[in-house]
Amino acid sequence: MIKKVTIDQLKPGMTIVKMASDLWEHLPGLYTKPGLIRSKEQVERIREAGYEQAFIEVKIPGEEPLEKRLDTMLKRSTVDPKQKKRVPFESAIEEAQKAYDKAMTHAHRIIHDAKLGRKVDYESSVETVDQIVDSAIQNPDTLLCLSKLSHFDEYTYTHSINVSAIAVVFGEYLGLGRNELLDLGMAGMFHDLGKTVVSERIINKRGRLSHAEFEEIKRHPGYGYEILHKQGDIPIPIMEAVHDHHEKFNGSGYPGHLTRNNTSALARIISLADVYDALTSDRSYKDAMLPNKALAIMYGMRDQDFDTVEVQSFIKCLGIFPSGSLVKLNSGYYAIVYEANPAQPLQPKVKIILDPDMHPIPSKLVDLAVRHSDSTNRLEIVECADPAVYRINLKPYLTRKR
Ligand SMILES: [Fe+2]
Repeated sequence: MIKKVTIDQLKPGMTIVKMASDLWEHLPGLYTKPGLIRSKEQVERIREAGYEQAFIEVKIPGEEPLEKRLDTMLKRSTVDPKQKKRVPFESAIEEAQKAYDKAMTHAHRIIHDAKLGRKVDYESSVETVDQIVDSAIQNPDTLLCLSKLSHFDEYTYTHSINVSAIAVVFGEYLGLGRNELLDLGMAGMFHDLGKTVVSERIINKRGRLSHAEFEEIKRHPGYGYEILHKQGDIPIPIMEAVHDHHEKFNGSGYPGHLTRNNTSALARIISLADVYDALTSDRSYKDAMLPNKALAIMYGMRDQDFDTVEVQSFIKCLGIFPSGSLVKLNSGYYAIVYEANPAQPLQPKVKIILDPDMHPIPSKLVDLAVRHSDSTNRLEIVECADPAVYRINLKPYLTRKR
């Protein structure tokens, strides 16, 4: 299991977990060099360098692997009895792709306008987010797939759309109404608008920021609020969510050090979507974390950064193998997860696309929860695979019919 500890709690023998480097914005004093802590002197050096916290791997004797434990945890909670009616993935993906692409163009425009000090076009933002909400209602897995399989070279834009889409999918899962989903999607799209005020040198700096630079970064939620407030036509819940998207459960966030009960549900949902997207679509690409690992990290942030029940619901919504994950099956073949199965989280619907030698094959849709008559062994997921390692672009496989 993964746990977040303070440097005071760090001891020789503990193993630091490999992290995405983009997490600095959420956890500024995070020590991220993976590997075993070998001595007290090493802990002392880490402390002297100014680090405050780290994620460690905690081994519990006889403990089941994470996926199995999450499976048990999710099965214990009841599945929504009024199973929502969904449009099948294959029919919904084209509309979702259009909504996603349109949102990308829109994100370019509003970020450009904000940089020039122009008004952000609220009306067309509503129109854009409206289509994202439609897609989430039709089939949320399409958006989750697109958010994970889009190129990361335009991080600023993809990140704002991904946070918007993931937040709307989670809000829909929680049963929010259409207007709330619209506000949520808008807050996701606008959440980092304040970064357009911060110098690009600081935004694009790789590695650790100086104290002064981080103080400036911490002002971006407030800058975003001011940009939107000046417009005069943005609903208050959206502005509040933008202002509070870096606040944490225990009050250790910024800018207001607000605890959980002093932030809105919209702000907390944006915060979950923001951290998940930062972990899984790291700017440097190679550091992007597999979705199931990212969820394990986020579970390790419960009671500190996130409300335990809320982060559990988020994991349940995305599934143990979130849509868009590349997985290896026990047959040796590789598949993309395209539809979660809330009742059987280890057995989602998948599209088999690569043979054991990673050669493309005519794709085949398989529901892992159904035993097929032509196979003696049930197909199972054995592990998550990293598309970046194999240099595969999975996106074309989603829309390809065969
Ligand atoms: Fe932010």
